[in-house]
Amino acid sequence: MANNTFGHAFRVTTFGESHGAAVGCVIDGCPPGLTLDHAAVAAFLARRRPGQSHLVTPRNEDDAPEFLSGLDLETGKTLGTPIAVVVRNQDQRSGSYSEWWHTYRPSHADFGYDAKYGIRAWQGGGRSSARETVGRVAAGAIAEQLLLSRFPALRICAWVERVHTIDARALLDPLAVERAQVDAHPTRCPHTASAVAIETAILTAKKQGDSLGGYIRLIVQGLPPGFGEPVFDKLDALLAQAFMSLPACKGVEVGSGFSGADASGLEHNDHYAWQGSTMTTATNRSGGIQGGISNGMPLDLRLVFKPTATVLKPQPSADDAGNNVELQAKGRHDPCVLPRAVPIVEAMTALVLADCWLRQRGQVGDPWPGLAGPLHRDGR
Ligand SMILES: Cc1cc2nc3c(=O)[nH]c(=O)nc-3n(C[C@H](O)[C@H](O)[C@H](O)COP(=O)(O)O)c2cc1C
Repeated sequence: MANNTFGHAFRVTTFGESHGAAVGCVIDGCPPGLTLDHAAVAAFLARRRPGQSHLVTPRNEDDAPEFLSGLDLETGKTLGTPIAVVVRNQDQRSGSYSEWWHTYRPSHADFGYDAKYGIRAWQGGGRSSARETVGRVAAGAIAEQLLLSRFPALRICAWVERVHTIDARALLDPLAVERAQVDAHPTRCPHTASAVAIETAILTAKKQGDSLGGYIRLIVQGLPPGFGEPVFDKLDALLAQAFMSLPACKGVEVGSGFSGADASGLEHNDHYAWQGSTMTTATNRSGGIQGGISNGMPLDLRLVFKPTATVLKPQPSADDAGNNVELQAKGRHDPCVLPRAVPIVEAMTALVLADCWLRQRGQVGDPWPGLAGPLHRDGR
């Protein structure tokens, strides 16, 4: 069965292809009475927008959101009914992509779509294009506003930590990074010297008709304990699904991730300690999630994105008529997808957390035990 819908209580369906009339989303399950900041939704989309800098695809889209339903016409508040957001495509140039009508781009989705459906929108990648993520970002911006209305201290912040071999991980205090600092440089790497080196590397790759990949780091602060639905919808499982559903994302690490294999249990455990009525851990190798439930420490994840598949040098490939051919791709592309992926990662995080909050509220109620300090369960 097809699935273009994400979430259970806060459900988002995205629609649209890269070169169709429009892309967007329908959100079902957003509670009524939320005063929606339209400018904040537009600003979130602008951070994802193509054409935003010399480091990304020059496709020039305004990405201005139109709200078609779900909002009170007088106050702009959510009605509790489906919220439909549409963004019209404006700068399609389908002719530029005619070389891959019949030929499959290496490491792209073209062959898979043909093999599955027997038909595909070849212009600009159709549904497999990152253009689809416009709907995710619009919905994520609304989800974030919903979360902030209940948890004002929540801070979701992602950034480019590494591109190719340039790695800023050891040079940053992850808990001190803020969105404004991330957005200050077109690479979205908040460490200035690394950002400059990354910019040069991306521009060099672009000049050579090549592309680069890297890591995005995600930190969420101010998230209370209790988010996540064991066992199949554990918080780490939901986040991994959210991120692995993004185009070009090839791996997700939670906390110590793969490096946990290098430590013993004594070295790796995060020791609990009450600080007043708040539970903390002395270290955060769990990345803020244990048993699939947030523990109140910052969420700490790392995502890897592969180098952009479409490169502008001739490459061996194959066509849909059984021939092995050479493909010389043209068109407009991101030489590195990471700078634009940052707000998409933040949006997916907000979608997961909004869904978790509504599910927690539905089953356990709000407030729930973990918000109130030690449980004092004597006699139970
Ligand atoms: C923000 C963003 C921008 C992207 N831009 C491009 C692009 O310009 N050219 C391209 O070939 N792939 C681009 N991609 C990745 C492809 O959409 C993706 O690699 C392709 O659909 C195949 O899917 P897979 O890599 O997940 O297997 C982009 C991905 C993201 C997240």
